[in-house]
Amino acid sequence: TYVVTDNCIMCKYTDCVEVCPVDCFYEGENTLVIHPDECIDCGVCEPECPADAIRPDTEPNMDSWVEFNRKYSEQWPVITRKKDPLPTAAEMDGQPGKLEKYFS
Ligand code: F3S
Repeated sequence: TYVVTDNCIMCKYTDCVEVCPVDCFYEGENTLVIHPDECIDCGVCEPECPADAIRPDTEPNMDSWVEFNRKYSEQWPVITRKKDPLPTAAEMDGQPGKLEKYFS
C-alpha cells in the first residue's frame, strides 16, 4: 500500500485524490489518509503530491504510518475531488514535527 505521511499535515494539496482510480483517500481537518486495504498499489498518486507526502509502505519504518492511515480512514469521509490547499500549505510544507504538534 501507499500511505500519506507527515508532510501532508497542514498542507493538504489534494492533487492526489484526482488520480486515485479506487477513491481510497479520506479527509480530516488537517490531512488526508489512504485506506491501506483499499489501495491497489498503483502508485499514480505518489508523484502528484507537491509536498512529497505519499510513500510506499515498502520503505523503512512505515508501520506506524500504515496504522495511522488505517485508523483515520475508518473515521473520516472519502474525498474524490481536488479542492484548494489549506491556507497554511506554503508555510507548513517541509516543517518538522507536524504529527506530534497536530495529532497528540
Ligand atoms: Fe496531502 Fe499531498 Fe494529497 S499534501 S492531500 S498527500 S497531494
